[in-house]
Amino acid sequence: MAIYLDHAATTPLRRDVLDAMLPFLTDGFGNPSSAHSFGRKARAALDDAHERVARLVNAEAREIVFTSGGTEANNLALKGAAWAGKARGHRIVTTSVEHHAVGHTLRYLEKFGFEVVELPVDRYGRVDPDHVDAAISDKTILVSVMLANNEVGTIQPVAELGRRVRAHKGVLFHVDAVQAAPYVEIDVETLGADLLAIAAHKFEGPKGIGALYVRHGTHILSQQQGGTQERHRRAGTENVAGTVGFAAAYELSCTDRPETVRRLRRQRDRLKSAVLAVDGTELTGHPKDRLPGLLSIIARDTDGASVAMGLDLEGIACSVGSACTTGSTEVSHVLTAMGYPEEEARGALRLSLGRTTTDAEIDEASEVVPRVLASMRLGSVAVAADPLGQGVGV
Ligand SMILES: Cc1ncc(COP(=O)(O)O)c(C=O)c1O
Repeated sequence: MAIYLDHAATTPLRRDVLDAMLPFLTDGFGNPSSAHSFGRKARAALDDAHERVARLVNAEAREIVFTSGGTEANNLALKGAAWAGKARGHRIVTTSVEHHAVGHTLRYLEKFGFEVVELPVDRYGRVDPDHVDAAISDKTILVSVMLANNEVGTIQPVAELGRRVRAHKGVLFHVDAVQAAPYVEIDVETLGADLLAIAAHKFEGPKGIGALYVRHGTHILSQQQGGTQERHRRAGTENVAGTVGFAAAYELSCTDRPETVRRLRRQRDRLKSAVLAVDGTELTGHPKDRLPGLLSIIARDTDGASVAMGLDLEGIACSVGSACTTGSTEVSHVLTAMGYPEEEARGALRLSLGRTTTDAEIDEASEVVPRVLASMRLGSVAVAADPLGQGVGV
């Protein structure tokens, strides 16, 4: 049986969540905009999902906009706030380690005259709140910082950043909480967020459903036209079953969180000790302020993609950086921003545990991963010493 250590990419759908969704994929198929009984039933489920998700992040139901996932939630937040705020200013402040759903969206906005300031991070991937403060000018309309990084697991000092941004009147604070949501408590008041993105498939909910928290009174321009759904902020017939699944999965995830976090830390630390015992390996990301189940490393003199492939052959599924960069030959912009030279960044590997990871799987991975890493390192070191294959020492 293969061992799945790629929970940062996505997670399996929880059985209880599927059971909660099924009625709305079968008999309860109505369109929430229909006035008849089928529509009313769907509307009630959708309203309930808004309420439940809002409660979990300390918000109000009207402040939750369901989207097709994390990417769309981030796009809607950034483009929606940028266009709505264009008359006030054109400057947007962010970090150099954001997910492409944020980074590429902001690059797109640059084409329309917005100025994007990308702040540097330290060796652990953290942004300095003083830098954020200093980057905010009277032309700044928006600051966007992720809660936890998807490649190295580093948690940003978001509550502190929120306080700083709040002190600048009229500047909105957007938080990409997609990777953090299963493991970090989200309270939009404590974080000081005006806009915050989450996706259900990161916490054993269905794919294709996300949510954007939009603080009451925050004006964003809808990015889709053709309907008045989600209080005019996201046109299109709602994915009712998806929203029900989102609410159910997030409730279960939040209830289980303390126990899950404790267990994941223990399992991750066990795997970490085994992996870092291999010569030439190094942990990437913050040593303490990091997601509990995410183990990201660099193994010198290896190519992360080849290691991940070698592990797959041995029945262990993991990834190089984020799922989104798999298949690309580009080195991670996150590791580059953290100061790793390109040749080191090529040896990146991400093993991400989840709620369903068992101790037996970690026992097995603690044997297999170091063995594969060591053999790959030996292979490449031998090739480097003897590039023509004439035999080392000849
Ligand atoms: C930090 C972060 N933001 C955004 C996304 C995109 O979310 P989705 O895959 O739901 O579109 C991801 C997905 O990995 C992520 O990790």
